Amino acid sequence: MAIGNTVLRVDIITIFPGYFRETFDFGIIRRACAGGLVNIRAHDLRSWTSDKHHVVDDRPFGGGDGMVLKSEPIFAAVQSLAGANRREKIAAGKRVVLLSPQGKPFSPSLAEEFAKSEQLVLICGRYEGVDERVAEALVTDEVSIGDYVLSGGEPAALVIIDATVRLLPGALGSETSAINESFADGLLDCPQYTRPPEFEGMRAPEVLLTGNHAEIARWRRAAATEKTKRNRPDLLRKRT
Ligand code: 6GU
Repeated sequence: MAIGNTVLRVDIITIFPGYFRETFDFGIIRRACAGGLVNIRAHDLRSWTSDKHHVVDDRPFGGGDGMVLKSEPIFAAVQSLAGANRREKIAAGKRVVLLSPQGKPFSPSLAEEFAKSEQLVLICGRYEGVDERVAEALVTDEVSIGDYVLSGGEPAALVIIDATVRLLPGALGSETSAINESFADGLLDCPQYTRPPEFEGMRAPEVLLTGNHAEIARWRRAAATEKTKRNRPDLLRKRT
């Protein structure tokens, strides 16, 4: 059990609540839930409709393909889950997030902000879009997880919850492991090896077997830089 942190409340608004049925039952997230660091709920957007057929979408004004998620049920859902239905009335410490390919990029610093909040309300977009009044007037953040289109915001919600929960104090075995990870210092993580020392003719780097911790630290720094140069040269250019 962690010390001194309040429970992070996560409310997901989705037309597919079943999508989240078992995803939080594994590994670090399961432990964080069981340990009371985070309380995650998925809510069916349809339960905030008032018509007989629980309609959540409609045809786009101006024409075009596909359907657009309506404002009313989303505003009603956020009102009941976050206690307000306008951005300026959302309490400090709460984040109401629209997941959409049009959002600002999700980043390590945004994950840290989310981990410091008391409540995250994640709105999963669907179909060809979400009525723009949600982005204009309701949410505190519109967020995308990358430059590709997902058929809905649900996988993005999983990504954001995972990246956020592991930053909660007490979520990881040792407090240092989040600090040593990729991106914390602007470099990718260094390569890791385990037994056997030789596998099908491939040797693990000898320095890792020596027990010389200064040498090992030097090697890891160089290997992380090399890997970053190869896979993510953009990260090296961004470093200050
Ligand atoms: Cl957050 N939602 C959807 N539908 N597509 C995405 C995305 C989000 N981020 C990248 N692509």
